Amino acid sequence: MTIEIDVLNGDASWPLAKPLFDAVWPPHVLATLPWAGIAFAHAEFRVLVQDEAGEALCHVGIYRRDITWNGRKVPAAGIGGVLTRADARSRGYASMALDAAIQTLKHEGSAAFAMLFCEPHNVPFYMGRNWKPFDGEIFAEQPEQGRVRFDAIAPYIYDLRGRAPQTGIIDLCGLPW
Ligand SMILES: CC(C)(COP(=O)(O)OP(=O)(O)OC[C@H]1O[C@@H](n2cnc3c(N)ncnc32)[C@H](O)[C@@H]1OP(=O)(O)O)[C@@H](O)C(=O)NCCC(=O)NCCS
Repeated sequence: MTIEIDVLNGDASWPLAKPLFDAVWPPHVLATLPWAGIAFAHAEFRVLVQDEAGEALCHVGIYRRDITWNGRKVPAAGIGGVLTRADARSRGYASMALDAAIQTLKHEGSAAFAMLFCEPHNVPFYMGRNWKPFDGEIFAEQPEQGRVRFDAIAPYIYDLRGRAPQTGIIDLCGLPW
């Protein structure tokens, strides 16, 4: 099968990505996840793996944000919404899409590190791809509560330029991803 991998504008490509989100996380599944009810930011860019018919098989969202680390402003990046359609898994699509996201961030050059948040059962997948646990506290904003501790899913960090923090207090300075 021929596939295509592209890095696209986040808002413009949402209609392509949405059917994949609906298939992997339909409402009854979403309701059971540890992050049910949490408001998330929209991706600035999306890596999409599509089949010949243009259907999305795999998605990785890319975010850029000036966060604070121990009160200091730091340009960081986020990865979120990593998902592959159930019938297209274990073909390396998520690994390829993650690589494309990391290459995009390295090329763009402003972020010192990337962060993602994941459930315990996906930890081995990311640890095997060079993501390291962040052993600190995360704060983020939520529409009604304002600034809150964000601990529903655990933070992992990918070092982009050899200066990634491993501990401390990170404020995402906006909605989580
Ligand atoms: C996790 C996920 C994105 C992986 O997608 P994928 O396209 O199958 O990933 P790849 O093909 O690149 O890599 C799969 C490899 O990682 C391994 N892997 C996949 N999920 C894993 C997990 N949770 N823990 C450990 N290894 C895992 C597979 O065994 C496979 O190894 P293999 O190629 O030797 O068989 C996919 O399983 C998925 O969409 N899950 C549901 C949504 C989800 O939980 N997303 C993560 C949100 S943080």
